[in-house]
Amino acid sequence: MDDTTALIVTASFAGIVVLAVLARRLLLRSNFPNLPGPPAGSLLTGNVHRMRSRHSIKYRKHVTDTHGPLFKLAGPYGAEWLYIYDPKALYSITIKDQDVWGKHGALLTMIMLGPGLLSTEHHQHRKQRKMLTPVFSAAYLRNITSVFYETTHKLRDDEAMQRLGEVKDVMSILLRANMTASEKDRLAEEELIAQVSTFILAGMDTTSNATSRVLHILASKTDAQTKLPDEILEAQAGTEVSYDTLMELPFLDAVCRETLRVYAPVTTISRYAVKDTVLGLSAPIRGTDGTLISEVPVPKGTAVLCDLGACNTNAALWGPDAREWKPELFQQERWLAPLPREVEEARVPGVYSNLMTVHGGGRSCIGFKYAQLELKVVLAVLLANFRFELSDKDIVWNSAGVMYPTVGPVSKKPEMPLKVSVFRERI
Ligand code: HEM
Repeated sequence: MDDTTALIVTASFAGIVVLAVLARRLLLRSNFPNLPGPPAGSLLTGNVHRMRSRHSIKYRKHVTDTHGPLFKLAGPYGAEWLYIYDPKALYSITIKDQDVWGKHGALLTMIMLGPGLLSTEHHQHRKQRKMLTPVFSAAYLRNITSVFYETTHKLRDDEAMQRLGEVKDVMSILLRANMTASEKDRLAEEELIAQVSTFILAGMDTTSNATSRVLHILASKTDAQTKLPDEILEAQAGTEVSYDTLMELPFLDAVCRETLRVYAPVTTISRYAVKDTVLGLSAPIRGTDGTLISEVPVPKGTAVLCDLGACNTNAALWGPDAREWKPELFQQERWLAPLPREVEEARVPGVYSNLMTVHGGGRSCIGFKYAQLELKVVLAVLLANFRFELSDKDIVWNSAGVMYPTVGPVSKKPEMPLKVSVFRERI
């Protein structure tokens, strides 16, 4: 084929795609004619990509505030997506009807990582969860807490190498568990190997960016940063704080929870309906014709974006200051006082603290206790020795699979320079 023919073929193909999309938009009836939503945006890509782009944080807040806890988006090639942070609808997707909702992009994850927890589905996934859940239990973590301390003390070395060390520990527990399991529960070798890349991918950026977020916040909150070392040093009494004591330090726990609530590292997750279903809502929403809608029929194939962070900062549950980071006002500390009644009653399907941060149901984050331990060990060691302050660099948080900081909005390099000084009075 010469260049001109190739050009004509490509242009014709592009033309057919555009026409097909146009025909789909114009001729097919909307599945959700009465649902609100932002303007559809680009014909080919719709507005889903804008909700997921790197600098979408402000736009997402604006759109979620304007259109409420369930609205429609224009997906690529004329498809219609739903955007959701209503707790009851999330409960259906996450727990009640979890088999109705497939994982978007599971095939791609399978190609990248192999048949590990992030990519497998149905029976194979359940089998893997059964084998892996005890490996991430508090009982095992209690035994390997010292590994976390050793790793943290070596913070200057290459972080990826340290993580590999931690994963090696988890893997040796897993291999032992697999060897002693019955034939029907045992995982194949390729499934075991796939867990290594899965844990590195799922566990590394999430926890390290969550740690960066806490340090970034503390750098501008002198009161909280002063209060934390007092609590940590009192518990330390010259030695490393044990697993149980560390997990129970109230203010450290409040700081971690509040940070993971307001700044969920994984902002959204996507699913698609494998069959026709219905999503009920916690409270009715107003349709474009002014009527109230309390449930939404969802046809098979519809993709949804679940906004975990928007559920965590839903003012209807957490109050008008839901987006503010507030553990420091002692009387009103969210995590040191009873939770708002609305939160208790909403039945948020998250496994951690009425939050969606680490998701819920059969696909909840298996490593969240591991992440909590690592976050707390790193903070306990760092805050007992160093003080963090903002530098003159403009730190911007970027939206992605996992939120990450850069210097300024243009750079794509994940980094977060802070001023660090030795906490002299205590040494
Ligand atoms: C602050 C840290 C973390 C956050 C915010 C986080 C968040 C999440 C979320 C939201 C999911 C659900 C994803 C989905 O279903 O599409 C998930 C799943 C998962 N996470 Fe985490 N995660 C964290 C740390 C970790 C760590 C440390 C590990 C492992 C060492 C880990 C391993 C996994 C795995 C294997 C899954 C898939 C579970 C399944 O589908 O059965 N995560 N995580």
